[in-house]
Amino acid sequence: MKLNIAVLPGDGIGPEIVEQALKVTSAACKKFGHELSYKEALVGAVAIDAVGNPYPEETHALCMESGAVLFGAIGAPKYDNDPSAKIRPEQGLLAMRKRLGLYANIRPVTTFPSLVHQSPLRADLVEGADFICIRELTGGLYFGRPQGRSEDGTTAYDTCVYTTEEIERIVRLAYRFAMMRRKKLTVVDKANILSTSRLWRQVSQRIEKEFPEVTTDYMFVDNAAMQLIQNPKRFDVLVTENMFGDILTDEASVITGSLGMLPSASIGVHTSVFEPIHGSYPQAAGKNIANPLATILSAALMFEYAFNLHAEGKAIRDAVDASLAEKIVTEDIAEKGKAYKTSEVGEWIVKRIG
Ligand code: IPM
Ligand code: MG
Repeated sequence: MKLNIAVLPGDGIGPEIVEQALKVTSAACKKFGHELSYKEALVGAVAIDAVGNPYPEETHALCMESGAVLFGAIGAPKYDNDPSAKIRPEQGLLAMRKRLGLYANIRPVTTFPSLVHQSPLRADLVEGADFICIRELTGGLYFGRPQGRSEDGTTAYDTCVYTTEEIERIVRLAYRFAMMRRKKLTVVDKANILSTSRLWRQVSQRIEKEFPEVTTDYMFVDNAAMQLIQNPKRFDVLVTENMFGDILTDEASVITGSLGMLPSASIGVHTSVFEPIHGSYPQAAGKNIANPLATILSAALMFEYAFNLHAEGKAIRDAVDASLAEKIVTEDIAEKGKAYKTSEVGEWIVKRIG
């Protein structure tokens, strides 16, 4: 098969981790007899610096014509520390999500036996935890209008908007994931307060009837935040709106022991995007110390979700498991004094795939 991908390294550690994921992608293609072609494009702060736009038209055109997008990270301290900046790197990510129609962000959370001791939670709570967060990605507070300030600047507002149609498509997708797994779905909302959440609940209760085999739980977001810590193993598939999903998935990610381990897939109308859930980690940029595994695991998801190539995805995942077992890992998860460089981890995994 011919794989055509767009590579968007972005900011901070983005370029170094994407380089490893690309090497691994290329190794998997070679092993399974696929032809890989890829083109790089600008996104984020580097794109603002180069062309004044965090998601340039050229980048969008490349994404549209590619079979998948491999994405690094976005964000830079000079913008984080300047709330008055008019053009911001994150706008690039939001524009990409909106224009590619990426309404579903899928974040699988699994624990790795060799990392359980790194979790801030007790081992008996996390061992065997295995769930998927499905976050709505193109609606809610992130995109609702009006958004802004009053003329005198002393009042600010954001608007949370959801349509029935937006809720239906993401909830159905979540049910389909639940059907392929342990058949449990938790719908997370704040229906005791928010009008949008009440629509979520109403629509979900209707769709629930289409999937009688799935057990559905409705849970308020504050309770879900607590249960994720108290009993992560109770979850199978969670589905929630954009902002709640953003918050809960960062929380969920540390359960596994490192934010550097979790991949994600964003899917929807046009080309799917595969990216680590962590950020651009500017303090580590250029030092060859960042953990490339979340991005490498995102490449595994790319084979599976974008190209329907499951043996390839599994080969990558097995090689990552082997690197963890052999402790060929970066400093965030290494024992003291035994850390490997970003590129060394990538090269080891490439060799392992063979
Ligand atoms: C994420 C990130 C982004 C988000 C930021 C970088 C805009 O935190 O993908 O979770 O809030 O969606
Ligand atoms: Mg986030």
